[in-house]
Amino acid sequence: MKSLHPELERILIPAESIQRRVIELAGQISQDFQGVDRLYLVGILKGAFIFLADLARQLEVPHSVDFMALSSYGKTTTSGAVRIIMDLREPVEGQHLMIVEDILDTGHTLSYLYRTLKERNPASIHTCVLVRKTRPRQDVPVDYLGFEIPDVWVVGYGLDYADRHRTLPYIAELKRSAGK
Ligand code: PRP
Repeated sequence: MKSLHPELERILIPAESIQRRVIELAGQISQDFQGVDRLYLVGILKGAFIFLADLARQLEVPHSVDFMALSSYGKTTTSGAVRIIMDLREPVEGQHLMIVEDILDTGHTLSYLYRTLKERNPASIHTCVLVRKTRPRQDVPVDYLGFEIPDVWVVGYGLDYADRHRTLPYIAELKRSAGK
């Protein structure tokens, strides 16, 4: 087995567990949205691209895929200001939206997005989040959740540290010394 990168402390969620859970989530969503014309998956760049790709390929309901990119100034402050830097290509009025997010940390990103997309009058709006940190955060509904994790810095499976480690197949905890 390849040894862990020196910036990483330990593997938090092995690749096999992620894959199993993604299949379960897709099964649940497919069941809940049976009969719906089309589920409109909204992935949040960059982090969600791997999760969305795996999830979408396991769905058994008709679906389309689009992405948004947001920039947030709220990581180190309490303001949590979020701005859209790339929007969806089409209006989503009357669509069944599923926001797909890799991680819920402070909740500012998802909370902003949820409110913004709701104002566009979709037929329904749901959220699917792979990992949620155990910590105080903005109140935002999570309809489908992969894993609850401790409040540590994590990378892999879409999550990065300074754009590194994003394409690891597992989710790992970053060493404290790497974040300095
Ligand atoms: C990460 C992640 C979420 C957001 C969650 O994105 O992908 O979108 O932070 O954090 P929050 O709950 O505190 O708002 P990031 O801004 O790091 O951008 P990236 O996905 O492009 O790496």
